[in-house]
Amino acid sequence: DTRLTVLGIETSCDETAAAVVRGPLDKNILSNVIRSQIDEHTEFGGVVPEIAARAHIEILDRIVAEALQKSKCSWDDIDAVAATAGPGLIGGVIVGFMTAKAIAMAAGKPLVGVNHLEGHALTARLTDDLDFPFLLLLVSGGHSQFLLVRGVGDYERLGTTIDDAIGEAFDKTAKLLGLPYPGGPHVEKMAKKGDVTRFRLPRPLLDRPGLDMSFAGLKTALRTQAKKLEPVDDQTVADLCAAFQRAVADVLAARTKSALDLFRERYPDTAPAIVVAGGVAANQEIRASLLSAANDAEARFIAPPMALCTDNAAMIAWAGIERLLQGPVDDMKLPPRPRWPL
Ligand code: KG4
Ligand code: ZN
Repeated sequence: DTRLTVLGIETSCDETAAAVVRGPLDKNILSNVIRSQIDEHTEFGGVVPEIAARAHIEILDRIVAEALQKSKCSWDDIDAVAATAGPGLIGGVIVGFMTAKAIAMAAGKPLVGVNHLEGHALTARLTDDLDFPFLLLLVSGGHSQFLLVRGVGDYERLGTTIDDAIGEAFDKTAKLLGLPYPGGPHVEKMAKKGDVTRFRLPRPLLDRPGLDMSFAGLKTALRTQAKKLEPVDDQTVADLCAAFQRAVADVLAARTKSALDLFRERYPDTAPAIVVAGGVAANQEIRASLLSAANDAEARFIAPPMALCTDNAAMIAWAGIERLLQGPVDDMKLPPRPRWPL
């Protein structure tokens, strides 16, 4: 029986999370507990690393206990502990990973230090029937990249943002238009009321080949337009949000098309699939653009449920399972890392 039950811990940004996942047969999320720190950070207009680290320390033990209790597992049922070892805000990563080391040592379980990005990359294999290789578009507050996922531990970054991450661009745009943090959902809400034809924003880098993207220029162009019209009324804010969101969606759709072309060149005999993950994947217009780009290319489009697209510990537990299936793992000596490219 190759079934494993793994406790996962995630603390690399502003969610404190623990989960118990069983698999790979009868894949099952036995518990998935998340506590967001948004309230602690809102007044500062963004995540404050020191506050985040302290908030993780304060509740991680309770979150882990709750995850175990909800899973109806005892420590005897747990085969291993998996925790994010990076990349992320180092204070939080240290809290989660050192806690995991302590638990693993005390309970006599193997420890898996998971790369947070690998967690996002493998999530779709927990939620869907999906074989390697496949494409991943990761769009969050900290990352915007196309990854070719060839296997567990075997990733190739095909393209990335050369400046701001998309979520970051949404957040900065919201800030300069006077909308609250985190900006993404507010920009989307305003955009619904906006006239997308009123402002014309650039489509950065699309005149160049490859899969890299750029979003900082978009935000600057928007600021320039807004400055000319000060004081900006609500309708103008809505129109600017609509133009911004459409520009981002267009860039992503165009790059998705190129990514699928590249996939076809490399794997002419494999049906292409593209998975989207990260907080920005909550955006309906962006989702619709990606879906239609995938449909045009006759590719499968997979968007895991929102709670598993954003930061969570089930994806870390699952990545732990996938790693353990490759062979024994002992990451006791692995250091927590702020930077850790896949
Ligand atoms: O993956 P995530 O929850 O956390 C990390 O960054 O790791 O992503 C958060 C980001 C924020 O920048 C937020 O503004 C953005 O995702 N976001 C959205 C939407 N919901 C969240 N961006 C655009 N539209 C949304 N509906
Ligand atoms: Zn993330």
